[in-house]
Amino acid sequence: MNKVITGVLATLAFGAASVATVVTTGIVDVGADTPHHPVVTDLLGFARERAIARQSAGITAPADLDDPERIRRGAGNYAAMCVDCHLAPAMADSEIRKGLYPTPPNLAGSSPEAGAGRDPARDFWIIKHGIKASAMPAWSKGGMDDEAIWDLTAFVKAMPGLSKTAYDQLVAASDGHVHGGMDGHADGHDEHPAPLAAATPKPAAAPTAGHRHDDHDHGAHKH
Ligand code: HEC
Repeated sequence: MNKVITGVLATLAFGAASVATVVTTGIVDVGADTPHHPVVTDLLGFARERAIARQSAGITAPADLDDPERIRRGAGNYAAMCVDCHLAPAMADSEIRKGLYPTPPNLAGSSPEAGAGRDPARDFWIIKHGIKASAMPAWSKGGMDDEAIWDLTAFVKAMPGLSKTAYDQLVAASDGHVHGGMDGHADGHDEHPAPLAAATPKPAAAPTAGHRHDDHDHGAHKH
């Protein structure tokens, strides 16, 4: 028995020493342009899902999650804060999404992660708390209250069923980018810059040429 324990301890010590060696040499690639080893991806994914399942276990979604009013209210905040990373119906992939690792799930598409099969308590938790070491922000820290987060949860659930036209109409009919929890915050957002597509082009004499890069066809940016 003692031999077994000694063996286990030796293996653990060897494992810890190996990890320490790999980490201190600096050979771990922290660049976002190379994926983790599949084993690491699986391990991180497993840990993330276990943690979210445990921490969202006590959350009950409001009964009116399918209320069109909620979905309408969620649309404006989604268009203002989420669309670059999570896309919208018929939208081409975005530049930021292509560069992020992990890649933000396409919440508009017909992929398994999109749509009615979503778990609202899980989505609410993720939107509220964010996910460490990924690009997903904790929106509660930005001042969004729980009701506004439920509106977004409702919208995320409804969005894959929307056509581009229906999406655009909902965004136009929404109150724009507003959320409770920060006094005066909604008012301040009247000063939001116009969406990129509608922005006035910079004069030719501007010191930079704005957002451009040469090996890229910006036709894809019409969204
Ligand atoms: C800067 C990019 C970025 C922005 C902006 C962003 N997210 Fe995310 N989001 C992510 C990433 C990355 C993940 C995946 C994290 C992971 O897998 O660990 C994610 C995950 C999620 C998930 C879980 C998806 C799933 O099925 O696993 C939901 C829901 C979500 N985000 C909603 C939102 C909402 C709503 C907003 C706007 C209020 C938003 N996100 C804004 C990057 C972003």
